Amino acid sequence: MMNETILDVKNLSVNFRGRFRFFKGTGEGVAALKSVSCSLERGETLAVVGESGSGKTTLMRTILGLAAEAGGSVELWGKSISSMTNGERIAVRRRCGYILQDPYSSLPPTMTVMGTVMEPWNIVHPGEGGREEGTSRARGLLAELRLPEELWQARVRYSLSGGQRQRVAVARALILGPELLLCDEPTAMQDVSTRGEVLEVLLKRVSAGMSMILVTHDLLLARRAAKHGMVLRGGEVVESGDTADLLRHPNHEYTKALVAALPKLG
Ligand SMILES: Nc1ncnc2c1ncn2[C@@H]1O[C@H](COP(=O)(O)OP(=O)(O)OP(=O)(O)O)[C@@H](O)[C@H]1O
Ligand SMILES: [Mg+2]
Repeated sequence: MMNETILDVKNLSVNFRGRFRFFKGTGEGVAALKSVSCSLERGETLAVVGESGSGKTTLMRTILGLAAEAGGSVELWGKSISSMTNGERIAVRRRCGYILQDPYSSLPPTMTVMGTVMEPWNIVHPGEGGREEGTSRARGLLAELRLPEELWQARVRYSLSGGQRQRVAVARALILGPELLLCDEPTAMQDVSTRGEVLEVLLKRVSAGMSMILVTHDLLLARRAAKHGMVLRGGEVVESGDTADLLRHPNHEYTKALVAALPKLG
């Protein structure tokens, strides 16, 4: 099979101006990413692991074009995001699905479950024509993600738990059949059994050719989901490679500490 590079990040650095600049009286900001490089082929999964504040979400946001690039480059399907026209950027976004970290703030506040899942579909396929197909996709996804059917017409804001919201976010991200899925802790609010189910739903798409970046705190989840892994700390890549090798033979002290903190299984 021909390799097709979906994503190529080179020496990416992102700085935020300090939130307390005024009080501190300095112009210094936070270097959220320092010269990060990674790439992803079609049908591959990359796990991004690291402690809170290590820059995982910033990396995802920058790939989506939501944080200004301070240095380096991000290419999607061979084209640099900073040189894209607005039209090209919209076209590329439509090939991507994303599950943002917080399902409380990232889902539209007043819609029903079905409305939330179908919204991206309705934007891309307006009019009655695609409606039936969209409805059947949404129902299929919600069933696959085991969201109880009595919740499908409920309002997300009033009736759903965090874990249920996250599954709605997964369905919404998948409804257009993305070629690249960016997911930021997509299973953080699931219990052990629904976590496995959500992961299976994602991995099924990966075996059908979808590429995925999975942000997680969970090294075991990273190994299960992804062949390639990257450990971030303080905005820098401390180690990257085959996830099974990372767990078996961590080189960097920080990765060793993460592995040592895992519960001992069997
Ligand atoms: N909008 C922002 N303005 C200023 N600083 C920010 C902003 N977003 C993130 N940061 C800073 O950038 C660094 C990386 O944050 P980021 O959200 O990428 O971490 P993370 O790895 O996703 O953490 P978590 O696991 O807690 O989600 C942190 O020091 C954070 O304070
Ligand atoms: Mg984050």
